[in-house]
Amino acid sequence: MDTLQPFHALCCPLDQQPLLANEQGWSCPQGHQFDRAKQGYVHLLPVQRKRSRDPGDSKDMVQARKRFLEAGYYQPVASTLAQLVHQHLKQAEQDQPAYLDAGCGEGYYLQQFIEHTQNQGTREAGEASCTLLGLDISKWAMQVAARRSRQVQWVVASNAALPAPANSFDVISSVFGFPMYEEFARVLKPHGLLLVIEPGPEHLHELRQIIYPELTEQEAQKEPNRGPFTVASTTPIRFQCLVQSTEHILDLLAMTPHVHRITPEAHARLSGLSELQITVDMRCQLLTLTE
Ligand SMILES: C[S@@+](CC[C@H](N)C(=O)[O-])C[C@H]1O[C@@H](n2cnc3c(N)ncnc32)[C@H](O)[C@@H]1O
Ligand SMILES: [Zn+2]
Repeated sequence: MDTLQPFHALCCPLDQQPLLANEQGWSCPQGHQFDRAKQGYVHLLPVQRKRSRDPGDSKDMVQARKRFLEAGYYQPVASTLAQLVHQHLKQAEQDQPAYLDAGCGEGYYLQQFIEHTQNQGTREAGEASCTLLGLDISKWAMQVAARRSRQVQWVVASNAALPAPANSFDVISSVFGFPMYEEFARVLKPHGLLLVIEPGPEHLHELRQIIYPELTEQEAQKEPNRGPFTVASTTPIRFQCLVQSTEHILDLLAMTPHVHRITPEAHARLSGLSELQITVDMRCQLLTLTE
């Protein structure tokens, strides 16, 4: 599977007709035109579907995540995900399997997947090429992601209304994203795989102890409603690492919901640290459509 190409079967977000690529971008038979941004992504989120003027992660959040991820702290997460995706795509009995990273942020995990696939060496006989779609509701995330690779079709759109026909993808991943299970089920092929990476109970407990020193007990995690999906298996991702600068500690904070709740005192405590040992406790849920 050494040939990786952008996913091309996009749909018009206004009438779900197929979009065709042209010089400026993409258009549908009804004449709706979507321009390609200079960075290379296409904006397919209609104004009427925006819940806010600037939905999704802000420019600062995207930059913080980019710095933290590129420092390599979550490389084991990327590597586990890349292996699982690669394995499933290889098994897919399709001429051209397709992979969607839904809520892909600034594209780190897709880039790691591409590097993993290219490092797998020579193409095996009969192996198909694969198409890639990276989608996020944040235009700031797409501006960064689109610079990473031309082997991915990057789009600004929402998980709630994916710009793709039914039965399009062999694999969908959602990494700390906002999974929309019904919509994922629509665009996943019948034997497709959905990979959801989410935090476990011990995730970043050292960071939480500094932010909320009065909290001793972890709240029990509720099993989310997975809609038409069933958990086929779970791959735990657990390791410890040392975050090696104040900037990276604050970048990590900006990647979590705690950034919206932190008190000025707790922020000062974190800003005074030059390193922080963290526990990464995530789980990768492998979900299939319930029969
Ligand atoms: C916690 S970040 C994770 C980003 C990336 N998966 C990663 O782990 O590096 C969540 C991402 O979901 C995006 N997002 C939020 N709501 C969304 C939606 N309805 N559809 C698609 N993306 C969404 C945000 O813009 C943000 O980039
Ligand atoms: Zn249209």
